[in-house]
Amino acid sequence: MIIDGKTTAACIRSELKLRTAEFEKAYGKKVGLAVVLIGNDPASQTYVRNKIKGCEEAGIRSFAHYLPETATQEQARSLVRALAEDGAVHGILVQLPLPAHLNAAEILAEIPAEKDVDGFCAENVGKLALRESGTIACTPLGVMELLRRYRIPVAGKRAVVVGRSNIVGKPMAMLLLNADATVTVCHSRTRDLKEECLRADILVAAVGKAKFITADMVKEGAVVIDVGMDRDENGKLCGDVDFCAVEKKASYITPVPGGVGPMTVAMLLSNTVAAAERGEKA
Ligand code: GUN
Repeated sequence: MIIDGKTTAACIRSELKLRTAEFEKAYGKKVGLAVVLIGNDPASQTYVRNKIKGCEEAGIRSFAHYLPETATQEQARSLVRALAEDGAVHGILVQLPLPAHLNAAEILAEIPAEKDVDGFCAENVGKLALRESGTIACTPLGVMELLRRYRIPVAGKRAVVVGRSNIVGKPMAMLLLNADATVTVCHSRTRDLKEECLRADILVAAVGKAKFITADMVKEGAVVIDVGMDRDENGKLCGDVDFCAVEKKASYITPVPGGVGPMTVAMLLSNTVAAAERGEKA
């Protein structure tokens, strides 16, 4: 069965639209998200465009800020600092990766935890590790939401996450663990990757290599979640999973495009609405 992230995300956006309308009635202003894009990375430009479009569809006001590739550390920091103090802005997102000359950690540190709608700051990562309520990174949160909405059980299952990034792999592993899966995290130094993957009831691929997960690495009946956004040999968008071959073995599988990607945006919007509701209540 193919997991339809596109339709699920559209459904979530229309649910959020009701909440943003309620918010506006209660507080006399819109939910606001600031999106900061620094430089000319084409993939980042596409992601940011999708995020701004998602805001429109969910009734969120977006504030787009574009800085040139040559922006200085101080320009980036002072922009984020101003957004942190702006009462119309409930969430701040700095699109990654940043140009190499910038210190990303230092810029992200200017985002207060309550406006950190990406769930990247130490406070939010710590809360996830402690299983306390906080903002959770959008991509892994979107994966959990797909599993929940498709009623795919997680507790007691063997979950294997391939990739250990701060943005996806690590928070994904923690979320699956918090949902009572038995979790293995694999990475570039893992020995016998194929054997590890073959044990998975739920396999999450977050490696960033086109068609890296092949059919011989997947157990019959496994749930396969593809977080990749790669280009194949013809320059066509594809995921980390060799979809055509793996589809035949998987019980559930997410396509690329149309799987996890739209869910990442939907969860960003959801995190923003939640941040606004908390922020105005406080
Ligand atoms: N770059 C790739 N994924 C993400 C994400 O989820 N958030 C941000 N800010 N940058 C990204």
